[in-house]
Amino acid sequence: MSHYYSQEPNVPLKTKMIEVFIRGERFKFITASGVFSFGKLDRGTELLVNNMILEKNWRVLDLGCGYGVIGIVASRFVDYVVMTDINKRAVSIAKKNLKINNVKNAEVRWGNLYEPVKGEMFHSIITNPPVHAGKDVLREIVINAPHYLYDEGVLQIVIRTNQGAKYIKGLMEENFKEVKEIAKGSGFRVYAGIA
Ligand SMILES: C[S@@+](CC[C@H](N)C(=O)[O-])C[C@H]1O[C@@H](n2cnc3c(N)ncnc32)[C@H](O)[C@@H]1O
Repeated sequence: MSHYYSQEPNVPLKTKMIEVFIRGERFKFITASGVFSFGKLDRGTELLVNNMILEKNWRVLDLGCGYGVIGIVASRFVDYVVMTDINKRAVSIAKKNLKINNVKNAEVRWGNLYEPVKGEMFHSIITNPPVHAGKDVLREIVINAPHYLYDEGVLQIVIRTNQGAKYIKGLMEENFKEVKEIAKGSGFRVYAGIA
């Protein structure tokens, strides 16, 4: 079966361009069948990108980038962004989206979870995690994040209030110095964990 988190989606490729305004800036994204949120900006992602904490000098990791919206929005406000995804179609579409948004300070890499950034450090890891991939994947993302974050670095996660929020918040509280809820709305919450 093909999911948005398959390595190689087997659904025929269809694409649709969307235009969105986020944090006062205009972006265009190619979205694709077989890649998360075809034809639209996901509500959870929207809450995250409008509220995520960003600082000018930051190096940011967008883990599970899909067509690339989180990393591309972040790239306008920070120093450098690495975007990763396990889905090869997502990686290829996100690369195209870097070009059409004229982004020069970001790159997209293919691979599983933190493998593509082994040994690298970030000021923030920002993610709309693949909830449907299962609890083990969510757990891997949260418990390993501190190894890739500088001291005081921030893991920022959006999660559906009634589909994993309690679990994620609990895991973050066990693995981070401090956890704050930085936004809520449309049935989602955004948590920030300070390493
Ligand atoms: C909920 S989607 C979010 C996509 C995009 N960031 C957005 O907000 O529109 C989660 C993404 O994680 C990717 N993913 C799933 N399992 C993964 C893994 N083990 N390693 C890396 N990425 C993964 C999926 O392919 C999908 O693109």
